Amino acid sequence: MATQAHSSHEKGIGNGSKKRKILVTSALPYANGSIHIGHLVEYIQTDIWVRFQKMQGHECYYVCADDAHGTPIMLRAQSEGITPEQLISDTSEEHQADFKDFAIQFDNFHSTHSPENRFFAETIYNRLNKAGHISKRTISQAYDPEKKMFLPDRFIKGECPKCGEEDQYGDNCEACGATYSTTELKNAVSVVSGAKPIEKDSEHYFFKLPDFEAMLKEWTGSGHLQDEISNKLQEWFEAGLQEWDISRDAPYFGFEIPNTDNKFFYVWLDAPIGYIASFKNLCDKKGIDFDSFWEADSETELYHFIGKDIVYFHGLFWPAMLHGSGFRTPTAIFSHGFLTVDGKKMSKSRGTFIKARTYLDELNPEYLRYYFSAKLGSGVTDLDLNLEDFRLRVNSDLVGKVVNIASRCAGFVKKKFNSTLSDTVSEPELFEQFAQASDSIAAHYEAREFSKAIREIMALADLANQYIDEKKPWQAIKEEGHEQEVHEVCSMGLNLFRQLMIYLSPVLPVMAEKTCDFLNMEAMQWNDVQTPLTAHEIKKFKPLMMRIEDDKVQAMVDASKEGLAATEAPKKEKKASKKAESQPKVHEPIASESDDSHIKADPISDTISFDDFAKIDLRIAKIIKAEHVEKADKLLQLTLDLGGETRNVFAGIKSAYAPEDLEGKLTVMVANLAPRKMRFGVSEGMVLAAGPGGEDLWILNPEGDQDNGAQPGMKVK
Ligand code: MSP
Ligand code: ZN
Repeated sequence: MATQAHSSHEKGIGNGSKKRKILVTSALPYANGSIHIGHLVEYIQTDIWVRFQKMQGHECYYVCADDAHGTPIMLRAQSEGITPEQLISDTSEEHQADFKDFAIQFDNFHSTHSPENRFFAETIYNRLNKAGHISKRTISQAYDPEKKMFLPDRFIKGECPKCGEEDQYGDNCEACGATYSTTELKNAVSVVSGAKPIEKDSEHYFFKLPDFEAMLKEWTGSGHLQDEISNKLQEWFEAGLQEWDISRDAPYFGFEIPNTDNKFFYVWLDAPIGYIASFKNLCDKKGIDFDSFWEADSETELYHFIGKDIVYFHGLFWPAMLHGSGFRTPTAIFSHGFLTVDGKKMSKSRGTFIKARTYLDELNPEYLRYYFSAKLGSGVTDLDLNLEDFRLRVNSDLVGKVVNIASRCAGFVKKKFNSTLSDTVSEPELFEQFAQASDSIAAHYEAREFSKAIREIMALADLANQYIDEKKPWQAIKEEGHEQEVHEVCSMGLNLFRQLMIYLSPVLPVMAEKTCDFLNMEAMQWNDVQTPLTAHEIKKFKPLMMRIEDDKVQAMVDASKEGLAATEAPKKEKKASKKAESQPKVHEPIASESDDSHIKADPISDTISFDDFAKIDLRIAKIIKAEHVEKADKLLQLTLDLGGETRNVFAGIKSAYAPEDLEGKLTVMVANLAPRKMRFGVSEGMVLAAGPGGEDLWILNPEGDQDNGAQPGMKVK
């Protein structure tokens, strides 16, 4: 897949001709929850990329901040009996400790609740306002008369007006897919107080996104976004851009909008501005020239790493806001997919909703950094942490291959050769082969094709091990007159190990640092792979990385389950409320994040006649494609082959299956169900599944054994 191909990219690589100025961000984590391994995909991905850029000698800054505003944070602080300021300060400390322990090295970590951010939010708003891009109008919204606050959609629950399903959020039904306004919900209650919401008028401020249609069409189509993303944005253009509601009424934890009466900026207005604010804070501390990075015609590069769930904000609102207020727009936005664990969505009941700290209590952070990089590409596909594969892969690659090279060579050099490497490299061709991989590995890192970089590095590690296996220094050392050979072989082995560690150092910075210490060398630079260490004294070898014990992984999963028992209720509330504010209110509302897979035994329903039953046309269907549906947390989009005819079906089975588990499988579908228009498209039938729900859901799969003759399109009797 082609992403952007700025000429400046190629220049920096390999020949070191141009020093680039690069500013990089990761999305700002909400200040009302802990960092978990899903978040870490993004921070690890960004950190590796930034470390790689720095190793190339570029001037590169990596900034982030906590996203500290909004209703959920205000309510959370209230429920804990502390001020929002206290809550966000505690969380900031926790987040920063987690990041540090995962070796995620920000140049600055700030907060959106900061003077810099207030300044830039006001500046950007005032400029947009002056240029006529802000409008005002009165809208009617649900209001909690007891709590005396307006209620975002996700703070209202009730029964679906279409199908009657209980416990549905204020904007759409998870059961039947209907969308509606909160006023249509039956028996609606405020999640905050339990009171019945009323309708109340209030004046709101809007950012006139349609003013930027031409600019955005140009921008989104000219290499700043991954192809999948820019295609997605085209759909939004087709649906028509709408004005964006950027104000909230008091009570609200945020910044007051200048010259208004008690109106606050919506959290998503000042969140991305937090990127600017954090960088400004860094510039003030370090004397960096702020304007050269943010002026409209800046020649520096600006990259935002984000998850695919927040593309709307970064791909449309953000460039429009920046452009409309005279700032530069991003060079590129790099979005990534979501993390699944063992093929399924992270789940508290399965113990796979793993917090950063719970992981750190049991395992070395570099295991995860390695595993993610071995699986990360430049696209937006989801990535799976398979816990068994994780353990085997780390043990075999890092411990079995890489560290093994050093541990097989280090002892002899120390004991027999006075801890000093030989004067020459005995196999210059092999050394050269490793050195020449530099450009290709660098290109993979640059393009965020980390899995390809890792594959290439591990192929070299195999060569190094083969070399030592052939030379058998442990045998040669016992034979008279082979001393020098052993010295050369072990020195060669350590030089190959050093080259591998240079290539791996963006991924494994801690192990790289230990390697520097062991090899008695300065911090690694990328071009160090070109020159061997000869006649050089090294230090004592200490084990650089231990194997993952199986029980450690299990202990982490168990600890994640235990965490649930104690805190389940508040967490659920928090999750629902968090999404309330993170949701774009224009087009395609995001489906609920709540993972309500409580198992209930359903009574057998009323009987139907055999004739009724016979009307159902059940067919065997082959799942030729299964995909995630953007912003739908329960649905997968299936393309089914009915023996010549294909059908598009949305199935609520995402909690139980990952798309890759389904592709190629046979299933049973209701082929004569009337097509139904859902928010995401038309569903042309239904696949049959049974189970209490959540992860415990099984699609009917007639393919129990491969040769049973089941064929797509076959009628099921
Ligand atoms: N506060 C907003 C971002 C504002 S940026 C101006 C937000 N915060 S978040 O805490 O919910 O998510 C932070 C980042 O982590 C987002 O980019 C999000 O996509 C990413 N991830 C959160 N859960 C994730 C997974 N399970 N898997 C991969 N990335 C995930 O959104
Ligand atoms: Zn419904």
